[in-house]
Amino acid sequence: MSDLLGELAALEAELGAEIAQASDESSLEAIRVKALGQKGLITLRLRGLGQMDAEQRKIAGPALNGLRDRIGAALSAAKSVITARAQAERLAAKRIDMTLPARPYEPGTIHPVSQVTDEIIEIFAGLGFVLAEGPDIEEDRYNFTMLNFPEGHPAREMHDTFFLDANHDGERLLLRTHTSPVQVRTLLAQKPPVRVIIPGRTYRCDSDQTHTPMFHQVEGLVIDRNIHMGHLKGTLEAFARAFFEIDQVKMRMRPSHFPFTEPSMEVDIGCKRSGDEIRIGEGDDWLEILGCGMVHPNVIRNCGLDPDEWQGFAFGCGIDRLAMLKYGAPDLRAFFDGDMRWLKHYGFQVFDQPSLCGGLSR
Ligand code: PHE
Repeated sequence: MSDLLGELAALEAELGAEIAQASDESSLEAIRVKALGQKGLITLRLRGLGQMDAEQRKIAGPALNGLRDRIGAALSAAKSVITARAQAERLAAKRIDMTLPARPYEPGTIHPVSQVTDEIIEIFAGLGFVLAEGPDIEEDRYNFTMLNFPEGHPAREMHDTFFLDANHDGERLLLRTHTSPVQVRTLLAQKPPVRVIIPGRTYRCDSDQTHTPMFHQVEGLVIDRNIHMGHLKGTLEAFARAFFEIDQVKMRMRPSHFPFTEPSMEVDIGCKRSGDEIRIGEGDDWLEILGCGMVHPNVIRNCGLDPDEWQGFAFGCGIDRLAMLKYGAPDLRAFFDGDMRWLKHYGFQVFDQPSLCGGLSR
């Protein structure tokens, strides 16, 4: 009997050592089959209990059952350690860096129109202007009537307006033909003194090398007491110098007409043309860059203000044209084609934020 117990102790030690050494699930399984499978070392011995006499069975039975239970427990403990380790290894192998881009990507660029808009805002912010905006879909009264365009006035026709279908009140909304309606919206919304810079999209039914049906304008409006044309001229000169990044800009004003300004002017800057190239700040040629004037008393009155107390100036300027001029892109239509090659060539880096202290352009 003591032979059997010694044998079982040796078997337990042997199986224990094998279990301790097993490094994966399949070797553990082999040990289980060898010990506890149908023809396993412990199983066969348990079957042998039937042939023993009662006395022997009393000792061998509990010894064998105990051995079977301990080996079973040791096997399942080892198994859970091994599966946990295998899982950790699998996860480590599959680890991915979520901050990496999903696929190799081409960094985009900032469109020259966005860049130039930011430059203009930055310059006027330096002069104390605040940003204002208005909707692209506009009411007739803001785009025309309150800006002193009388009903049926030919200037309305000159704007080649896109009208929307009439709504249930018979009112026809339109795509704003200029940023000037935001002058009215601003004066209705806030008390003077007012100094705003208004960039935005504008629309006219027109398309050729220098016109696109959608284009960008920037509007400036100053309303205060005792504002005169000297302020307008000084502001525009400061802007042109900062924008074109040159110390001296020649500038001239020609009389013009807009219903919402009186007097009205068009502003040219001095330039030199050679072939396709235009250089600003030198030469004897002139290039028109914007329209401006002193805000018409009727507009001030339409906004509920007394024109004897409040005066001001306004100007409106095509942003796309300024971008073409400054960065030398010859065809306006290409601005809106969305051609990646063009954008790569004329676009700006995301981090090229224009600032007055850090430099406006690259
Ligand atoms: N709104 C005018 C245009 O689109 C420009 C302008 C703005 C003129 C402000 C004078 C004052 O042509």
